[in-house]
Amino acid sequence: MFTAVRRFSTATRRFLSMDTPSIDIQEIRAKYWNKDEEFFLEENLPTTDPFKLFDIWFKQIANISDLSFEEINAVCVSTVGKDLRPSSRMVLLKSYTSDGFSFFTNYNSRKGQQIEENPNAAMLFHWPKTSRQIRIEGAIDKLDDDLAVKYWNSRPLPSRIGSKSSEQSETVPNRQFLENKKRELTELAEREGGQAITKPESWGGYILIPRYFEFWQGQSDRLHDRIVFERDEEVWTIKRLSP
Ligand SMILES: Cc1cc2nc3c(=O)[nH]c(=O)nc-3n(C[C@H](O)[C@H](O)[C@H](O)COP(=O)(O)O)c2cc1C
Repeated sequence: MFTAVRRFSTATRRFLSMDTPSIDIQEIRAKYWNKDEEFFLEENLPTTDPFKLFDIWFKQIANISDLSFEEINAVCVSTVGKDLRPSSRMVLLKSYTSDGFSFFTNYNSRKGQQIEENPNAAMLFHWPKTSRQIRIEGAIDKLDDDLAVKYWNSRPLPSRIGSKSSEQSETVPNRQFLENKKRELTELAEREGGQAITKPESWGGYILIPRYFEFWQGQSDRLHDRIVFERDEEVWTIKRLSP
């Protein structure tokens, strides 16, 4: 018996039931917004360390109050397995340090399998309201399991139940299948407490260790600034690309 209930808000339901007016996609032209109308010049960089520059941009964006509704740590991760067919998906960046950029997921997922076959990957951040994009490329490694356990235990119970209910990227017969798993785990947590929802072995973190960064600042004349940092051994070289 199919009992899953969609819990959309009234506003969302109204939005979903709206007629879909036709749009002329070629007429969509965003005005690229650049806070101070300044060019992003290699001679004026606040730092020559790309990790520090990422940190500066990320904090600037986090501090723009009217972006508070956006998940500014949402990042597109692209991977390519041994079939050489790339695939991309959004994840949430959970930390960044001078070692790399980390997120959590299921190691058995499609991305996990591709990373196993080929550690080379790319991350793409886009913050439209600031006309900024950052591309990061490098190799992915697994994070230590104790970090994954620590982060797992800090997650709200419903998130842990949701993740544990899902063999990510596997085909499932229907929504009810997932709801049943969720109910079993919810009942377990009610009986034995939230700590019974332990981290699955297949759930953990990855870190992308960059060898390439590109900082992109949109400009209203479409002559956008693209500043690249590329690593050779331990040395980063800086160059500008044509937009
Ligand atoms: C904004 C956003 C954030 C997401 N964050 C994560 C995440 O942190 N980890 C994750 O495994 N999936 C996350 N997802 C779901 C993934 O995009 C994707 O559906 C899932 O990881 C399975 O991808 P795969 O089959 O390519 O492995 C997120 C999706 C969106 C839209």
